[in-house]
Amino acid sequence: MNAPDRSHAEPDHAAAQAERMEVVGRFAVGIAHDFNNLLAAMLAASDTIAHRGGVDEATREDALQIRSAARRGAALVRHMLGFARETPAVPQRLDAREAANDLVPLLRHLLGRGVRLDLDSGQEPLPVRIDPTAFDQVLLNLAANARDAMPEGGVLTLRCRAKQHGGATFASIEVQDTGSGIAPEVLPHIFDPFFTTRSERGTGLGLATVQEIVHAAGGSVTVESTLGVGTCMRVALRIDAGAVGGVADGTVLLVEDEPVSRRLAEQALSVWGWRVVSAESAEAALDLAASRHFAAVVTDMELPGRSGAALVAELRARPSDAALPAIIVSGHAEATLRRDATVQALLAAGPTTLLLSKPYPLPELRARMTAICGTRG
Ligand SMILES: Nc1ncnc2c1ncn2[C@@H]1O[C@H](COP(=O)(O)OP(=O)(O)OP(=O)(O)O)[C@@H](O)[C@H]1O
Ligand SMILES: [Mg+2]
Repeated sequence: MNAPDRSHAEPDHAAAQAERMEVVGRFAVGIAHDFNNLLAAMLAASDTIAHRGGVDEATREDALQIRSAARRGAALVRHMLGFARETPAVPQRLDAREAANDLVPLLRHLLGRGVRLDLDSGQEPLPVRIDPTAFDQVLLNLAANARDAMPEGGVLTLRCRAKQHGGATFASIEVQDTGSGIAPEVLPHIFDPFFTTRSERGTGLGLATVQEIVHAAGGSVTVESTLGVGTCMRVALRIDAGAVGGVADGTVLLVEDEPVSRRLAEQALSVWGWRVVSAESAEAALDLAASRHFAAVVTDMELPGRSGAALVAELRARPSDAALPAIIVSGHAEATLRRDATVQALLAAGPTTLLLSKPYPLPELRARMTAICGTRG
């Protein structure tokens, strides 16, 4: 993603906050890497002392204590790196079912041979809003805990379903194991930061991280466990209504056939608070627009079959969308774009059409969104 353009002076708290977090994140990552090097030196030195001939038993014990502490420190740093990501978390629309499916090979690797992975993910898409890396981190942490609870092997079931609760629809993602289960007196503490029953190797940050991520995405984590039988951790994330249809204010129709540009624009628009529905062609866009109203359309000019300008004209031909705000993005210079007859007609019709040349700094897109839609976004 392009760096925020500082010359573009617009009061912008969310972006400033995101930028600050990014700086803090980079700083923390830098420290974590240095810290890892220090820990590696401590590990090596304590190891050497512990295994040196002629060292008395008490000294050897002390050296092993140092080594064990350094190990935990290293695990802690790994979690910190997870918290302070090198890029800030970007919530976006993703299909939880698809994202879980995509993670299966990695999960199999994590679980090893002793644990069987059963996937029960149904067919329906489960559109939710969450940072994709954070979503993966949630599943990986839950799977690691399940693995740790089944040292003798067992079965991990990954289940993805749509569930109704209190009038809303949720994506329910369950990670169930046939492991040790959790004792009733331990259960209230498992989400506490640094709470662990794995004294040697655990940091106790796994579930704290999971909870932090899920809460940030507006979801919840619940647990059911029976000692000696197993545990089921359930993550519930609200289904993104804007993505499944209906009238959603503040939804932008993004039309772009080039995947990288599409993803960039999708991410940026979501960060600025818009819901985004994407189409890869003018035809697909028209299909989407047939059944719902969009707050704005951002379209590429050079689409297969029909130009972006022709698409905008067609969308506006319907009385309900006559004033649909539109941004036409093009790989050509703006001057070239202005020579197109359809573009000229759109520009002549009023101030709700703006042009933008690719590649563009993201603040440019944002400024145009604000210009055509008012302060929203
Ligand atoms: N699936 C599970 N089965 C049994 N106990 C669990 C399970 N998941 C979590 N726990 C309990 O909750 C505690 C906290 O889990 P958490 O993931 O936060 O830390 P950890 O696994 O101990 O350490 P780390 O995540 O750093 O490896 C664990 O130590 C364990 O006692
Ligand atoms: Mg854990």
